Amino acid sequence: MTSPELELTHCIEFSSAHRLHDPALTDAENAKLYGPCNNLNGHGHTYRLEVTVRGCVPRSGMIIDLNVLRVIMHEEVFDHVDHKHLDKDVAFLAGRISTAENLALAFWERLAPPIEKRGGGQLVRVRVYEGSDSFVDCFGV
Ligand code: NI
Repeated sequence: MTSPELELTHCIEFSSAHRLHDPALTDAENAKLYGPCNNLNGHGHTYRLEVTVRGCVPRSGMIIDLNVLRVIMHEEVFDHVDHKHLDKDVAFLAGRISTAENLALAFWERLAPPIEKRGGGQLVRVRVYEGSDSFVDCFGV
């Protein structure tokens, strides 16, 4: 009998400013494409990051130690983005247009190696809420 796999999720919230703007486009094209999200001086959101790890339940009873997962999420994401301007302050987002989709991809790239290094559980989903009523799911890069 194989042991079942379970999924464990930890969530954090952070607040950031950003501006959707593609430097390859003209100002008029950006304004048309991104609308109010292209506002010159940016705007803010409360973001929510949910990180899900899947694995069998070992003798310890933990797929991954929640304290370890929380520290990884803070060190890799929260400490870099909370109360920051995503387009100006965050080195690992340089060159990316700061949509929730691109945040999810960038967060996955940062979170997967340290989670994998811990052994046991495997990163299976990174969910990024921009505000409370819409989110993006990333299942791998
Ligand atoms: Ni926005």
